Amino acid sequence: MILPARALAAGKDMSCFSIIACNVTVETRFTGVSSAAERNSEPIFRILETVFSDRKTVLEIGSGTGQHATLMASRLPQLIWQPTDCAEYLVDLAAWVRRNGPGNIRAPLELDVRDDPWPVSSVDAVFSANTLHIMSWECVEFFFSGAGKVLEDDGVLCIYGPFSYSGRFTSDSNARFDEFLRQRDPHSGIRDFQAVSALAEEQGLSLLADHAMPANNQMLVWRRRGSRIQP
Ligand SMILES: C[S@@+](CC[C@H](N)C(=O)[O-])C[C@H]1O[C@@H](n2cnc3c(N)ncnc32)[C@H](O)[C@@H]1O
Repeated sequence: MILPARALAAGKDMSCFSIIACNVTVETRFTGVSSAAERNSEPIFRILETVFSDRKTVLEIGSGTGQHATLMASRLPQLIWQPTDCAEYLVDLAAWVRRNGPGNIRAPLELDVRDDPWPVSSVDAVFSANTLHIMSWECVEFFFSGAGKVLEDDGVLCIYGPFSYSGRFTSDSNARFDEFLRQRDPHSGIRDFQAVSALAEEQGLSLLADHAMPANNQMLVWRRRGSRIQP
């Protein structure tokens, strides 16, 4: 994997960045592996094993290489795990899932958050890692409205990634990472916790937890208590 020097300087492993903007590099196609996902899988699992302990079906948005999907599915065998991503990634994602996936992972589905409707109508959990800062803000809005439509009354939403708080970054490296993202794509960038929380609240979701994770990331957990918002 070839890593941009600016990204390394920002303290971020950019292996995911080869698949950021529907732009898969030769290197990622050869390896099909994100070293960031290798590193953050364990801390993510430690949260999800508790949060998803009473869940049945997890819809993952932007599964990327599929590493989180196959690892979480194999270590949380009570779950049905549904990976998804944009059309461009489905072939590689499906190949990874076929090679490495346990029996409780479904074949990946094409899902762009702008799709209406999403290809899955009802789940009790939605998970996504490292996606909101890659999408435009308009896509982030579609993400939450889509998740709001598919989550059941008691549904849980877990989002992993970097966030700022009232416009302040949690580290200098995240500030540099945000600058890198915006130079690369002006529509992308680290999202503010308050802004995404407002979108979650519009969907009837209440914040359950905000876990500080390694490498200046967060795991945000919301839960709906009550009926889903009717369109
Ligand atoms: C940085 S990668 C993260 C991949 C994986 N979740 C991980 O953490 O390794 C960003 C992912 O967001 C997905 N993504 C970007 N825009 C999207 C959209 N509009 N709808 C669905 N997924 C999108 C990309 O296709 C890519 O898989």
